[in-house]
Amino acid sequence: MDNALIIGASGDIGIRMTQLLLEKGIHVIASVRDHNLNKSEYLNTLKSDYKSQLILVSMDISAQESVEKAFSFISGHTNKLNLIINCTGLLHNNKGLQPEKRLEDINTDNLVQSFTVNSIGPLLIARYALPLLRHNDRSVLSNISARIGSISDNRAGGWYAYRAAKAAQNMITKTLAIELNRRSPNTICVGLHPGTVNTKLSKPFQRNLKLGQLTTAKQSVNYLYKVITKLEKKDSGKIFAWDGSEISP
Ligand SMILES: NC(=O)c1ccc[n+]([C@@H]2O[C@H](COP(=O)([O-])OP(=O)(O)OC[C@H]3O[C@@H](n4cnc5c(N)ncnc54)[C@H](OP(=O)(O)O)[C@@H]3O)[C@@H](O)[C@H]2O)c1
Repeated sequence: MDNALIIGASGDIGIRMTQLLLEKGIHVIASVRDHNLNKSEYLNTLKSDYKSQLILVSMDISAQESVEKAFSFISGHTNKLNLIINCTGLLHNNKGLQPEKRLEDINTDNLVQSFTVNSIGPLLIARYALPLLRHNDRSVLSNISARIGSISDNRAGGWYAYRAAKAAQNMITKTLAIELNRRSPNTICVGLHPGTVNTKLSKPFQRNLKLGQLTTAKQSVNYLYKVITKLEKKDSGKIFAWDGSEISP
């Protein structure tokens, strides 16, 4: 694995994954939104430790022109990516988006925000990444998904926007796998569930977790990296948990 792209490197899982790949000697292009570029102390430290092994780029996956511009910048640096991990995700924000407990909490704006980042963003990434994944070596296009996007595993209900947007993401992963099988046969496209991880995204919802259920981002990315290295062509289109088990749609 020579070149990797981490999208959402300002997130807790994204930054730890960036660090892990750098430690493994992989060249990493890491994307963050404009407001985070050069502002994350952690990323700045990695940049000064790894110099030209780490390239930072701005990308907002909710805006098609930003994704296009970022990939045009990336193509200026390399014509080949072996690994893409989309570590972005949206569950709550300070613009009114919170997981819904009941129908009265539903509003269009929140649903649109969630689908824009969790479902449409991954598809835009694939659209612009294709030329860089299409080469003679194995390549992996992965989105950090969530077990909550599994329809068959839905026992608790609620969280309509996030649940449905991750389920849509999983459908996009499967559909991409079918197209990539034709157009980029060495590419494996998967979704990855990181476990229940101590991050900004999960912070407000950690109260009722069982002892030992919460993992660190560092542990999670180590597990996910092992899963990624073992992926085979027959795995394309599937969703895997951090322990390598397949998650049913
Ligand atoms: N933590 C868990 O327990 C858990 C469980 C299951 C699945 N996941 C999934 O794991 C992934 C990583 O999340 P995390 O837990 O590491 O949370 P996090 O720390 O909140 O990271 C989320 C990242 O998404 C980025 N992002 C949001 N909207 C974006 C946009 N429009 N364009 C570009 N980047 C955007 C954020 O960037 P900004 O810093 O600019 O906002 C941030 O870097 C997500 O897909 C999440 O759904 C997490």
